[in-house]
Amino acid sequence: MVAGLRAGARLPSTRSLTARFGASPVTVQQAVRALVREGLVESRPGAGNFVRHAQPAPRADYGWQTAALGAVGPHGALVGSTMQTPADDVIAMHSGYPSDDLLPVRAVQSALARAARSRSALDRPHASGLPELRSWFAQEVAEATASRGSAPTAADVVVMPGGQSALSSIFRALARPGESIVMESPSYWGAIAAARQAGLVVVPVPRAGDAVDPIVLTEVFERTRARLFYAMPHFANPTGSTWSPEQAAAVLDVVRENSAFLVEDDWAHDFAIDAVVRPVVANDTDGHVVYLRSLTKSISPAVRIAGVIARGPALSRIRADRVVDGLYVSGVLQTAALDVVTAPGWQPHLRRMRDQLRQRRDALTALISAGLPAGVLTAVPAGGLNLWLRLPPGITAAGVVAACAAEGLLISPGEEWFPAEAVGEFVRLNYSGPNPGRFSEAVGILAAQLH
Ligand SMILES: Cc1ncc(COP(=O)(O)O)c(C=O)c1O
Repeated sequence: MVAGLRAGARLPSTRSLTARFGASPVTVQQAVRALVREGLVESRPGAGNFVRHAQPAPRADYGWQTAALGAVGPHGALVGSTMQTPADDVIAMHSGYPSDDLLPVRAVQSALARAARSRSALDRPHASGLPELRSWFAQEVAEATASRGSAPTAADVVVMPGGQSALSSIFRALARPGESIVMESPSYWGAIAAARQAGLVVVPVPRAGDAVDPIVLTEVFERTRARLFYAMPHFANPTGSTWSPEQAAAVLDVVRENSAFLVEDDWAHDFAIDAVVRPVVANDTDGHVVYLRSLTKSISPAVRIAGVIARGPALSRIRADRVVDGLYVSGVLQTAALDVVTAPGWQPHLRRMRDQLRQRRDALTALISAGLPAGVLTAVPAGGLNLWLRLPPGITAAGVVAACAAEGLLISPGEEWFPAEAVGEFVRLNYSGPNPGRFSEAVGILAAQLH
């Protein structure tokens, strides 16, 4: 509309623009307002609209910040590539969040509308969270707890704005900068990043099969004096491996003997496909397990709600950290989350979603088995959202990830998931995000890189 007009020129009247472009007066006025907002046109009341004089683009110089900020801290440049937002036509297997057809979309929208009309849109909630939501988190674990006496109650729960914030709070609250935290390797990149941001030294322990070897874990505790062990006992992200009940008991014994905490990230509680999730915290009597259960992947990435269960002074410290970090979690989101998980449709939704996840997982594994070199698929996970692939000798993950991205397929490079050096070339494929109709195309793109 302003192309061809010199700075200072008056824009034609709304009437003549309407006639010239065949648009309605409302559309023309909206377009003019957009130009005013963008600073291209100036509106002078009573005189009309004028093309603004071109301003030389400000040339900011941020060089001073280089000297002022100095060396990059231990938490510099840690954001995993799973966080990149893809273009619409890309096959996005890099990210961790399920697509709309796996979410309770209508229930979420109605719950948010109801919450907006309720007192929760105006009230300041309790700093530890809504009592009913805390009860719901406690009850879920209590149902799996063998001895009723040690079942958690609402008083043991702190509501958090998502699992990532919860990890930061737990690490900050239970360890001091410079101390060690033990993690299975590979592990969730966001946990590695949160630990480093809290100033902790991340000490990797390898898995022997599906879980860490208790003897190796003991040695690491003794060598590092770490008090925290972060792990995902069920469907670990990224490998998909799950501890057996015996392995879980053995790990818990080692944690107890070393006066340490197991930070149990039950991130895929709702994504069990061929297994039943029995959280390790259900066997904890003395506050050795700090349990984290996020709802963001199950309800909606926009409803960022998680619950943490802890006991004793550890609970007090985590609660205090939460308050200092963000005072309290939005009551609207808590109310909506509670509404969704207590609605009669929640359990049927979970059953449907698990069936869909099974179909997605099986479709992708079948295509991989048929189309990629033998041995690439490390395991078929009993739950979770990901497949973990080991690349054939001589092929680098960085090269494959870049080549696939150029062909419109985003996948996650293995090295982002290792607390120390990667012990091989791996990539992670998420089967919950992209349209399964494009799985075959995705495997075709990968196959072209691997053969
Ligand atoms: C293992 C694990 N833990 C925690 C989180 C954080 O989840 P959120 O902050 O979305 O609740 C994620 C997200 O991808 C995850 O994969």
